[in-house]
Amino acid sequence: MTTALITGSTAGIGAAFARRLAADGHDLVLVARDTERLTEQATELHDRHGIEAEVLTADLATDEGIEAVATRLGDRRNPVDLLVNNAGFGNKGRYLDVPMADELRMIKVHVEAVLRLTSAATAAMRERGRGGVVNVASVAAFVPRGTYGASKAWVVQFTQGAARDLAGSGVRLMALCPGFVRTEFHQRAGMGTDNIPNWMWLDADKLVAAALTDLARGRTVSIPDPRYKALMGLVKMTPRSLLGGVTSRTGRKYGPQ
Ligand SMILES: NC(=O)c1ccc[n+]([C@@H]2O[C@H](COP(=O)([O-])OP(=O)(O)OC[C@H]3O[C@@H](n4cnc5c(N)ncnc54)[C@H](OP(=O)(O)O)[C@@H]3O)[C@@H](O)[C@H]2O)c1
Repeated sequence: MTTALITGSTAGIGAAFARRLAADGHDLVLVARDTERLTEQATELHDRHGIEAEVLTADLATDEGIEAVATRLGDRRNPVDLLVNNAGFGNKGRYLDVPMADELRMIKVHVEAVLRLTSAATAAMRERGRGGVVNVASVAAFVPRGTYGASKAWVVQFTQGAARDLAGSGVRLMALCPGFVRTEFHQRAGMGTDNIPNWMWLDADKLVAAALTDLARGRTVSIPDPRYKALMGLVKMTPRSLLGGVTSRTGRKYGPQ
């Protein structure tokens, strides 16, 4: 029996990871801010799949929250075999429209928490010679688009570099780069989604299945959908100056993903 810790487990992509990993027989540590929702989720997954599901309430925008999760990841008597750094959010508006406190909160959750939790987890995993980390980034990492895209670009670069440093240790790291996924993300950020064409939407359960296949194959970056793979291929060939203009216009309409 192995244990997976998922941040932001109560909704969207994190909840899809929890469903899939529980169905595969993994025990879980579920992390988010809403204790009631976490407890309901833990009970439901335990009853349905017979796995153990621990609840860890933590706000990853605070030092105490990050520390609490890092301490759990470092517990050598109850090891965590897979960490999914998934908690995240979007801020509505363009650079300078977003209050600085909200920008800093995003850096704390998307960057500092990911760094500290990955480090706590991989230090313990390296001692055991096995383990995995999935850091949820976004295709927004590949286009110039405000703090959100910049924070996700950091996640991709950091994960690739750490994966290289840990090569041969038995510990795998992968950055997961989804496109638009139907979750609570856009509603929470107050972003409209009416203009996003249907074909751009991904299903969270299919996304997670593809991500876990990519992790098993040893990929360090996963863009788990042919539509977005093709789009990102085009993005790579487009000059960044042109890309900046296009994404700043669409960014106003669609918000980050
Ligand atoms: N949806 C998309 O289109 C999309 C696309 C690409 C990448 N992503 C990325 O995927 C990840 C998950 O997003 P989602 O779409 O699944 O969002 P979601 O449906 O809004 O779920 C977000 C989860 O994160 C938790 N969370 C938020 N802030 C937190 C904090 N400060 N501390 C601890 N937990 C926190 C939430 O629970 P509580 O509120 O209870 O804390 C919830 O469980 C994010 O990193 C996002 O950037 C999303």
